[in-house]
Amino acid sequence: MKDQPNNQSHWDHIYQTKVDVDVGWFQPIPVTSLEIIDGLQLGLDSAIIDVGGGNANLTEQLIDRGFRDLNVLDISANALARTQKKIGPAADDITWIVSNVIDCDQLQAYDVWHDRASFHFLLEEHDIQSYVNQVKTHLKPGGHMVLATFSLSGPRKCSGLPITQYSAAMLDVLFGNTFTLKQAMDVIHVTPSGYEQAFTYTLFQKQS
Ligand SMILES: C[S@@+](CC[C@H](N)C(=O)[O-])C[C@H]1O[C@@H](n2cnc3c(N)ncnc32)[C@H](O)[C@@H]1O
Repeated sequence: MKDQPNNQSHWDHIYQTKVDVDVGWFQPIPVTSLEIIDGLQLGLDSAIIDVGGGNANLTEQLIDRGFRDLNVLDISANALARTQKKIGPAADDITWIVSNVIDCDQLQAYDVWHDRASFHFLLEEHDIQSYVNQVKTHLKPGGHMVLATFSLSGPRKCSGLPITQYSAAMLDVLFGNTFTLKQAMDVIHVTPSGYEQAFTYTLFQKQS
């Protein structure tokens, strides 16, 4: 059977028909991402964007920590509507961007670019390069990128779509000429239905 394309209608349909615990990537608390971000000891005015943020609870956790410049981008309007509803009135203080990240023209300059399980859907070389260019352009000098993908021993598909698996070394080849790899971790995510998925988590810093 031919693979479905990674596009807005795929993701809008997912978020229309499934609740949080129906989707394998869901984490009640995104523990590893928070540990990495907490470790950066950022000021509360730092601009943080969650790219492909979907239905993640990361932004809610960052609101609780007191961050004041939070941004969430996703290709699916339904995903962001779900997350806005979960957050409640505090959602009014967040910048929400419905767009494909690779050609988004609404991005600003960020101190932290976070992406868990969205970058790995890009399969074509030019799309991957467009993504790399977006991070290069929109991360401030000295800013950090937290990037989590399925690892070489992880699943080959996510949400029924083919993905690209990465090791930290492969990500370093892609980003390493502008970014310094500061941290790399193999992390097992247990899906809400109990399956294990192997992730590669990396922390890069943009060179000043
Ligand atoms: C597997 S989910 C992960 C959601 C969230 N990051 C988390 O960790 O719970 C992937 C998300 O990336 C979004 N996405 C996929 N491709 C995208 C793209 N090219 N641009 C923006 N968002 C994208 C999807 O709509 C979906 O919400």
